[in-house]
Amino acid sequence: MAYTMMDLCWKLFVCIFCYQVVSGRVKRHGHYVAAVYEHESILSPNPAALVDRRSALELMGRNLDIYEQQVVDAARQGAQIIVFPEDGIHGFNFTRSSIYPYLDFVLHSQSVKWNPCREPYLFNDTEVLQRLSCMALKNKIFLVANLGTKEPCDHADPRCPSDGRYQFNTNVAFSDDGMLVATYRKHNLYFEYAFDTPPEPDYKFFDTPFAGKFGMFTCFDILFFEPAVNLIRQYNLKQVVYPTAWMNQLPLLSAVEFQQAFATAFNVNVLAANIHHPTLGMTGSGIYTPVKSFIYHNMESYGGKLIVAEIPVITTDYETNLESNERFGENLHHSCKPFTSVSLDDQVCFKEREDTPGRASEEGNELLPPIFYAEMMYDNFTFVPVWGQKGKLHVCANTLCCYLTYRRDVLTDELYALGVFDGLHTVHGTYYVQACALVKCGGLSFNTCGQEVTDATALIDFQLWGNMSTPYIFPLLLTSGITLDFADHMGWKNNYYFISKNRTSSGLLTAALYGRWYEKD
Ligand SMILES: *[C@@H]1O[C@H](CO)[C@@H](O)[C@H](O)[C@H]1NC(C)=O
Ligand SMILES: *[C@@H]1O[C@H](CO)[C@@H](O)[C@H](O)[C@H]1NC(C)=O
Ligand SMILES: *[C@@H]1O[C@H](CO)[C@@H](O)[C@H](O)[C@H]1NC(C)=O
Ligand SMILES: *[C@@H]1O[C@H](CO)[C@@H](O)[C@H](O)[C@H]1NC(C)=O
Ligand SMILES: *[C@@H]1O[C@H](CO)[C@@H](O)[C@H](O)[C@H]1NC(C)=O
Repeated sequence: MAYTMMDLCWKLFVCIFCYQVVSGRVKRHGHYVAAVYEHESILSPNPAALVDRRSALELMGRNLDIYEQQVVDAARQGAQIIVFPEDGIHGFNFTRSSIYPYLDFVLHSQSVKWNPCREPYLFNDTEVLQRLSCMALKNKIFLVANLGTKEPCDHADPRCPSDGRYQFNTNVAFSDDGMLVATYRKHNLYFEYAFDTPPEPDYKFFDTPFAGKFGMFTCFDILFFEPAVNLIRQYNLKQVVYPTAWMNQLPLLSAVEFQQAFATAFNVNVLAANIHHPTLGMTGSGIYTPVKSFIYHNMESYGGKLIVAEIPVITTDYETNLESNERFGENLHHSCKPFTSVSLDDQVCFKEREDTPGRASEEGNELLPPIFYAEMMYDNFTFVPVWGQKGKLHVCANTLCCYLTYRRDVLTDELYALGVFDGLHTVHGTYYVQACALVKCGGLSFNTCGQEVTDATALIDFQLWGNMSTPYIFPLLLTSGITLDFADHMGWKNNYYFISKNRTSSGLLTAALYGRWYEKD
């Protein structure tokens, strides 16, 4: 199947790791062992119904029993931190009142030092926190989970909801002695009517002895400046924990694809845990470094999946890939592979600019490929077909022009297209996107371009670049079977952001520069 390559790497890794544990060897210097758990939540059969606290605790207890097994398993494999997904404990589709019995009481104040496992008597309605804290304490592991929380308020507070309480979608982090070390309230709610948006964005992180500070945010937050980008920049964070309940959307917003792009773009490690509900399109978790990752994406089978991997601590104070220019290669590859020259990319970028080509097709200007429009992820993309064995194309929309040079040895019976979009996305959330995307179309006709496709055979060497107006570019490189590949080169050259790849490890699904122009949201 499509996942064999990943599985193989994974098995290889597990074996090596087990060997290390068995033989009593310590892990490599400057590395740490992380775990994420993709959980198939046991859901309430009728989330809109009002139940009592006891029934709510009973349902959540069944999910927490599974969490506990995973914590034990992860700790046994040497993991120092474990991350669980958003909505994993209580599920979803509640109303504001039906979720109430599922909420734990949490004070979102920095000043309270509290160990829920050791001091359960300090606050009422904290049964979930107590169990999580005890798991961390007993297994000597940092633990991050997501739950619903409540905080009473009164009418002296003008923002206090009419029912006299705030209800938040909250991440909690416990240290390896069970201390509650950070709480984060989700800022960018995704049509979650059961929850309130906190009055101000939380910038939350916690410190660890093995990898320094970890920042936290949740699911949809990953697409917005506040608080995710601001948090990482302000505190120069290099590690991020990311509980999510992400519904995949191809070709540009599949969970593993975007999680990797975020790690690469910001030069951070991301520990991302998604919930596992294939019928709702929810799967895709991983342990990501900027240049390598351990992922799980499985639409075929049910049940959870624990991923454990040893990754390097990122310690450098380099600028992120988003801001750097000439030095991008040094940043990106410093810890994992030697950086190779960018001279090839230089040539192409500069040549293209001198040429100031016509609308499309160089190579003698024989036949201009036709421009067409097709909807991709609810946005009206402008496309040109990618025909023939090699060529150069460009396509523009609004202020953004996207350029592609490509070559393939074998022509397959597959249609690819180069698309551009520069505009406000307004379906299922409002956010401004500038994107250049080389995608495989659903079929052979133009109107299939932009459709969701999961398999491909064409191996295409390409360079893709665009004159984006935002510095926040997420480089996407997705291959057949929802696997990831990594660019040979990427970064800014003058006012163009580019990505290039000579030989993908399997057929190309999506190669894209997904830009977020936050100021225009
Ligand atoms: C939750 O709601 C969504 C959309 O309203 C629906 O598609 C889904 O089936 C619901 N899931 C559950 C578990 O009730
Ligand atoms: C917990 O609830 C009980 C019963 O309502 C109450 O007597 C007690 O004071 C509460 N404890 C705290 C710490 O709020
Ligand atoms: C897409 O954009 C083009 C160019 O602005 C326009 O002609 C076309 O009608 C649009 N298509 C849709 C479906 O909105
Ligand atoms: C991008 O390039 C096109 C074509 O040269 C130009 O019209 C457009 O203004 C450029 N956009 C920016 C932001 O420079
Ligand atoms: C990419 O492939 C082309 C030929 O297809 C070759 O000329 C070039 O050197 C390769 N570039 C890299 C960086 O490997």
